[in-house]
Amino acid sequence: MENWIAKRRLMERSRYWIGRGGRRSRWRKLPFAALMAVFGAAVRMTPIYAAGRRNALALKRVDFDLSFSALPPSFDGYRILHVSDPHLDYFPELAVAARDLLGDLEVDMLAVTGDIHGNHRAPIERSAGLLTEALAGIKVLGPRLAVLGNHDPADMVGVMEEVGFEVLVNRSLVVRRAGENLRVTGLDDVNSFYTEAARAALHDHDDEFRIALVHSAEVADDADEAGYSLYLCGHTHGGQICLPGGRPLVTHLKRCRHAARGLWRQGGMTGYTSCGLGVSDLPVRFNTRGEVALITLRKAPTASGACGTSARTSRRPQEPDRSPRSAACRREDG
Ligand SMILES: [Fe+2]
Repeated sequence: MENWIAKRRLMERSRYWIGRGGRRSRWRKLPFAALMAVFGAAVRMTPIYAAGRRNALALKRVDFDLSFSALPPSFDGYRILHVSDPHLDYFPELAVAARDLLGDLEVDMLAVTGDIHGNHRAPIERSAGLLTEALAGIKVLGPRLAVLGNHDPADMVGVMEEVGFEVLVNRSLVVRRAGENLRVTGLDDVNSFYTEAARAALHDHDDEFRIALVHSAEVADDADEAGYSLYLCGHTHGGQICLPGGRPLVTHLKRCRHAARGLWRQGGMTGYTSCGLGVSDLPVRFNTRGEVALITLRKAPTASGACGTSARTSRRPQEPDRSPRSAACRREDG
């Protein structure tokens, strides 16, 4: 862990971000940041800003089942609350909105897929504290897990541990039930702080049913190759500011762009990209909503049954606008 912290801090101070597709200069983002600053300043002077804030506060809970023939029977009905990209320092009022939305929900696992923090000049303790407030009503029967996002510094690990989370940095946790195992592997952010340790962690397993928690979808192909059944991520905010119809203007994905939001497929693996609880930079949303997802794992019939064609096959949820998309992950940095 000490080696990882030292290496991560070096990467945080570097002039480059390193993703699965390679290294890219931080200077390349300056034009986009300048454009966003101008856009933000202009929007703040119009009534659109208040509307965008109301949109951002209109969180939704997305509930669906995913069925897997490979799921150990004792995990049938296992409920995972998936929260991503809270960034609550950008918009603290969202903590109250999330608490109201979630109520006193009871789940088996809480999985936070990164970007707990937002503004790098703000204290990370405040972001973790606001997340704790947002989730205060829920009862988690099993593990409370988190992974880091591209906004989260290495020090976020200790801060999240202090508020009761286990932070998975390129390692796994095995959940046991009635003598059966479910492996959850969490990676460090692969968009900006990728190292080969992330890919190695995906391949370090026995033959359990496996779930990957990663901030972005950008190593979905690696996880599929390593035999994972489910991949939970965020990072894109569903576009946050989208065209009518929900088409994102920007996703910040450098690869695996078919996995920008909602349910998708990568080979034999099912993935879900959360639209995120929070917002980045400008505290507004247009044509997309913030969310938390309550995912219930179901044991599907075996290959000879109506559902299964392979050991990792899953079923889509009932929402008609969330049909899984499938495509190959582009290898090049784009
Ligand atoms: Fe984010």
